[in-house]
Amino acid sequence: MTRTFFVGGNWKCNGTVKSMTDLCTAWNLSTDNGAKYANAAVEIVIAAPALHALSAKALLPANFEIALQNCWTGGPGAYTGELAAEMLADAGIPWVVLGHSERRSLPIVKESDDTVAVKTAYALSQGVGVIACIGELLEEREAGQTMAVNTRQLKAIADKVDDWSKVVIAYEPVWAIGTGKVATPEQAQEVHAGLRQWMSENVSADVAAAVRIIYGGSVKPKNAKDLAKEADIDGFLVGGASMKPDFTEVIDAYSV
Ligand code: PGA
Repeated sequence: MTRTFFVGGNWKCNGTVKSMTDLCTAWNLSTDNGAKYANAAVEIVIAAPALHALSAKALLPANFEIALQNCWTGGPGAYTGELAAEMLADAGIPWVVLGHSERRSLPIVKESDDTVAVKTAYALSQGVGVIACIGELLEEREAGQTMAVNTRQLKAIADKVDDWSKVVIAYEPVWAIGTGKVATPEQAQEVHAGLRQWMSENVSADVAAAVRIIYGGSVKPKNAKDLAKEADIDGFLVGGASMKPDFTEVIDAYSV
């Protein structure tokens, strides 16, 4: 089973029109406007702030796709400030990041497992692919709860999803996000293998073999290749390092 390597960038709530334009210009220069990845076995998806997404889509190199970082639980309507999956599909935005730990954990947001699952199922129903994030807090890891937390979050999604072909699972240990504390390749591989095993036992062997499980948390050019060598790490979701010209070095880890 070959799983196409998947590298997501997550710009979070960062950037200006100028910084985004400069970054895309740098990437266009270093990738020959994206031609470098024309036949490469890697899928590249950049999750921009919603405000910038359509201009980023136009500026990004060829072979880079665009995503949003959140969407609404259902269809369009009187939901001030929200964006429905129909609107993403209509605007040519093929992916959305859902369940990021900053949305699950920030006290002012606090999305539940169920909310993330409802959003995931709805986005898929509209043809929008989902980068579904899960991950444990430091205190959960230290309490030996890593697999219990991750499989609880995954189960909520699995209970509502039938077709996994447009789902990418992003394992992002919360203690590794934005902290510079990357999980070791062995720590990440252990969880990824456990998640694939869970998928095999609870969804199906075929889905478990096909679904991409990507790692996020302080991925950088200097650690990407070692992580990419692990059998069950099928790519990355990258925050801070995705706002730099040398993010292409993270993408290039697909070929190790
Ligand atoms: P980081 O963020 O790469 O800055 O640690 C990862 C993420 O939040 O997706």
